[in-house]
Amino acid sequence: MTQDEAKRMAARRALEFVEDGMVLGLGSGTTSAIFIRELGEKVKQGLKVRGIATSSASQQLAESLSIPITNFNDCPQLDLAIDGADEVAVTPNHGLALIKGGGGALLREKIVESASRRFIVVADSSKLVPVLGRFPLPVEVVQMALPIVNRQLVALGLNPKLRHHPDGSLYVTDEGNVLLDCACGSIPDPAKTAADIRAIVGVVEHGLFLNMASLALIAGEDGVREVHP
Ligand code: 5RP
Repeated sequence: MTQDEAKRMAARRALEFVEDGMVLGLGSGTTSAIFIRELGEKVKQGLKVRGIATSSASQQLAESLSIPITNFNDCPQLDLAIDGADEVAVTPNHGLALIKGGGGALLREKIVESASRRFIVVADSSKLVPVLGRFPLPVEVVQMALPIVNRQLVALGLNPKLRHHPDGSLYVTDEGNVLLDCACGSIPDPAKTAADIRAIVGVVEHGLFLNMASLALIAGEDGVREVHP
């Protein structure tokens, strides 16, 4: 089975959790894009849902599929958010602990997912890890604060690297910020790492999502596994 096939299986399973009338958080990344496309098919067949997207790319995709988009004025609480992850670990203290932001959308993702009654992760089995940290942890930073935030992340031993596009241009998020990807290696105490990063003025948000997801749908050779906190 290819990674793409596994992503499709996880995204399809997530559709089973969607009910008529729900307000949905629409994630970002390739697995979420598959979910949004599948959701678009259901909407075409008559399913009534509305969505709040976690990135302009996901919003454009949803709109192109005629999935109605709403906002926090009209819908301050969402029923269900579906999103991918770069890493998923089951931890004793932080439930399902995630690294997110590989696609650059961690800020809106955290906003949307924290405003949702339920958050389900969709991923292929390569994302399930015993300990977080193999994937570089993204940190979103206000541009003018970049040098001082970078210095403090270096001092914490987090090994930050400014994100660029493959063509060499600076990666700027939907909110106009930049990303420092921290190749910090194993993160044995994610809550401490999260607190250390959050304490730096100029950091907007980080990609550690702790105790937020209530279920991960992890697809691999043996089908889709439901991984609970
Ligand atoms: C975007 C994300 C994505 O959910 C994460 O990068 C996983 O992406 P993919 O489904 O393409 O593997 O956090 O900011």
